[in-house]
Amino acid sequence: MLDLRKEFPALREGVVYLDSGATALKPRKVVEATLEYYENFPANVHRGGYPWANRATEAYEEARKKVANLIHARPEEVVFTKNATEALNLAASILANRIGEGDRVLVSVMEHHANFLPWMRLARNRGAEFVIFNVTPDGYLDLEDFRRKLTPNTKVVALTMASNVLGTVPPFKEVAKMAKEMRAVVVLDGAQYLAHREVKVRETGAHFIGFSGHKVFGPMGTGILWGRMELLKEGEPLLVGGSMIKDVGFEDYTLEETPKRYEAGTPDVGGVIGLGAAVDFVLEIGYEAIHTHETELTAYLYDALSSVGGVEVYGPPPKDRTSLVAFNLKGLHPHDLAWYLGELGIMVRSGGHCAHPLHKFLGIPYNQSVRASLSVFNTKEDVDRLVEGIVKAKRAFGV
Ligand SMILES: Cc1ncc(COP(=O)(O)O)c(C=O)c1O
Repeated sequence: MLDLRKEFPALREGVVYLDSGATALKPRKVVEATLEYYENFPANVHRGGYPWANRATEAYEEARKKVANLIHARPEEVVFTKNATEALNLAASILANRIGEGDRVLVSVMEHHANFLPWMRLARNRGAEFVIFNVTPDGYLDLEDFRRKLTPNTKVVALTMASNVLGTVPPFKEVAKMAKEMRAVVVLDGAQYLAHREVKVRETGAHFIGFSGHKVFGPMGTGILWGRMELLKEGEPLLVGGSMIKDVGFEDYTLEETPKRYEAGTPDVGGVIGLGAAVDFVLEIGYEAIHTHETELTAYLYDALSSVGGVEVYGPPPKDRTSLVAFNLKGLHPHDLAWYLGELGIMVRSGGHCAHPLHKFLGIPYNQSVRASLSVFNTKEDVDRLVEGIVKAKRAFGV
């Protein structure tokens, strides 16, 4: 098992952080890289020509190369955004002109709202059909349902690489291959994937993938859109303004090349530099070690939760999921349980997890659940503390 607690300044004695699915804790080296920028060369990028400005621009573009290296992409295919939500909205903006009346936009029911609402809105605005494909009752993607709904008029298929509720890793490569046969554009949501498993963007078969930088140990305010150059080249940015144009006249303007055309205004320079340090952190540990550690711990978590009387665990067994488990304790509202655990120093998330359609589809009580999500620094002791906390909650609430 990995032993990385000391790398994370927030992990003081007794802290049990089981909410890395919402945002990862930041390793010391990420905090230091961001601080170094603010203390030593805190200038804007792509503007000034003085030494601080040059150094800031170089560090910012170096971070882009690091991210590109992490996901096996070219730097010019990497657009920095403020989170995965912005990345996926940007993908929808780029594709908007390709969608019209009579077209179909096909989205899985297990999407986070970030990969659901941009497509629902796009379909509505363009007069296209918005169609949802299902999961099976045990939380796997329903490939048969997808096959039935993938019609020749399907223009976009949106799918997560890992569900933020069920942990399910759907067969996204197979889905992308089938979508390609219909000439549909495939947009994947890698927000819950990249901190846990290696991504080789081209091998996924996708055209766009949105990621959260902050879930991969980067600072808050960082996200990534990767896209295929043929689509990025022509796309409509979400924002227009400074830094993304070649020229502006009195009646018209010409856009910069990608990725600059999508990064209007001052970006989060310190955040992006920190994200570069986060990439170094991930690669120094290595995906193999991350995977081994988290696979063992996820199985431990899943088994431990399943063995507590009254706990209902959602989604497939550990071998088919990433590093999180959502559950409910019979007779207790998920917010009450999460609050109680918080009082014991155990941090878990509760609610609809921005996946209301999925909770409704599966008929999960209260349309909400408690979620424990793991990272490289978690230990079996963290899981034991969670289970002890749930057992105490049962006694305290008499359920
Ligand atoms: C699967 C999934 N997609 C997208 C998002 C949105 O990410 P962000 O908060 O970076 O916009 C999340 C966040 O929890 C997520 O879990």
